[in-house]
Amino acid sequence: QLELKTKTIGRRIVHYDTIDSTNTVAKKIAAEGAEEGAVVIAEEQTGGRGRLGRQWVSPKGAGIWMSLVLRPSIEPAEAAKITQIAAAAVTLAIRRVTGCEAGIKWPNDIILHKKKVCGILTEMGAELNSVSYIVVGIGINANVDVALFPEEVKRIATSIKDCVGNNISRKEIVLHILKEFEDLYLDFIYTKSIKKSVEICKAYSVTLGNTVKIINRDQTIIAEAVDLTEEGELIIRNQEGQMEKIISGEVSVRGI
Ligand code: BTN
Repeated sequence: QLELKTKTIGRRIVHYDTIDSTNTVAKKIAAEGAEEGAVVIAEEQTGGRGRLGRQWVSPKGAGIWMSLVLRPSIEPAEAAKITQIAAAAVTLAIRRVTGCEAGIKWPNDIILHKKKVCGILTEMGAELNSVSYIVVGIGINANVDVALFPEEVKRIATSIKDCVGNNISRKEIVLHILKEFEDLYLDFIYTKSIKKSVEICKAYSVTLGNTVKIINRDQTIIAEAVDLTEEGELIIRNQEGQMEKIISGEVSVRGI
């Protein structure tokens, strides 16, 4: 049934045809006092933003470009936990609605057949040491035609349509994401732990067990991705055989 089954997340959805970035709009309404659970969705973004200052191509009508406003009582350092909750929610939703075997490339990419189908950009507004709002932006190449991707993008990106073989209902995916997200988010709020989301991130991880290249500004390390902590940080075994904990913030993790 195509109806919203959540209590707060998505109870108000602001829908735009064309907007620069749903994250920018969500941050603006959050700063002006928008309630927890407000969602901004656009058919097209002219200035879609990715992590690490990258651009996020967001063609009209084909994708799911949306941002959620949250108001958890957490410290700024915990914001990355919200990304893990969102990654778990999107993965479950894609799997349940389409049957496609979505996986998670830590910390914020959802993968289909080794290529990126979704990225998550979590941003926040903070005062002193407390978060006033979090905006979690989710970009999914839903019905995007991969044939239209430039060659260099084709090598690294895919769409749900490419997996399923035909257009899928974006509405159905969005409703499932909001429901899965709310369940995992409320669990985090009540228990103060993202254990449940991390279990899902582990179960569907395409990172764990593999050799990864971790790029942090000017430093690059090659290591084996071993595990996730209960807080959702990545544990790696470096080339000297020592274990290290990686916090998602600025890093780029690549398979090699
Ligand atoms: C990444 O993989 O680098 C993150 C991509 C996040 C893209 C989404 S689309 C909706 C929201 N609005 C934006 O400008 N970015 C996020």
